[in-house]
Amino acid sequence: MTRNVFSYHKAPRLSLVGAGPGDPELITMKAIRTLQTADIVLYDSLVGKEILNYIPIGTPALSVGKRAGLHSYSQEEINDLIVELALLYGHVVRLKGGDPYVFGRGGEEVEVAIRNGIEVAVIPGITSAIAAPASINIPVTCRGLSESFWIVTGTTMAGAISDDIALAAQSSATVVILMGMSKLEEIMETFRFQGKAQTPVAIIQNATLDNERYVVGTVDNIVRVARAWDIGSPAVIVVGEVVRCSELVQNIQARTNINFQYQ
Ligand SMILES: C[S@@+](CC[C@H](N)C(=O)[O-])C[C@H]1O[C@@H](n2cnc3c(N)ncnc32)[C@H](O)[C@@H]1O
Repeated sequence: MTRNVFSYHKAPRLSLVGAGPGDPELITMKAIRTLQTADIVLYDSLVGKEILNYIPIGTPALSVGKRAGLHSYSQEEINDLIVELALLYGHVVRLKGGDPYVFGRGGEEVEVAIRNGIEVAVIPGITSAIAAPASINIPVTCRGLSESFWIVTGTTMAGAISDDIALAAQSSATVVILMGMSKLEEIMETFRFQGKAQTPVAIIQNATLDNERYVVGTVDNIVRVARAWDIGSPAVIVVGEVVRCSELVQNIQARTNINFQYQ
């Protein structure tokens, strides 16, 4: 008896997917659909646990979790894994917190994949830089208060405070700082140096998740306030007049009983 034997090999491809800021309802439908066609998923530690429920049962999922100071895989190892697993399994979904191209090193992963002949798709996500302030009613731009916003990293690859913070502090823009908690004091000093001691500041930890916490203060006192309330990473720091909007909404709510919710 003869049998037709043909080898079946899936084409290697990479989907770089943004999981949003953490709330499982803040992931996009396209991201969920992409997860459902994954042959293997590599995810970061900032991806909320509930988001992982969108990965079909039986699909292997590997945490390559990167947390401040704790790197389970180096970026080079992750790049190699993407290529090896795409060749072995087919469709690799690389799931990242927020948007994959906002301080997500997504560009490096895509470059490696393309260099190795792997087809790439990028699914944007809602970045924590906008969702975290929004979750406590802070708009990053506001007519009459702020005409633009900067998203800056607090800590550069070399571990230093980014020079861009000093530039941003000179502007009238809303300044949103990610990965800044370990440099909070230095960052605030930079704003104070620009005469902004009384500018409002908010810090939102675990934004959009059940354990979200936040504090509001000024450039002058936020370090003390954050310490007093034990606010740590992951957190988004917002510096600018727009922070007053949060208070405004809360005051209106208190006076009118109107329940404002971020949807
Ligand atoms: C490596 S960056 C990745 C940013 C991500 N790609 C994004 O668009 O949100 C990690 C930083 O994002 C911020 N971050 C991410 N998710 C957050 C959340 N749910 N709450 C507060 N900060 C968050 C923190 O500043 C954290 O240190």
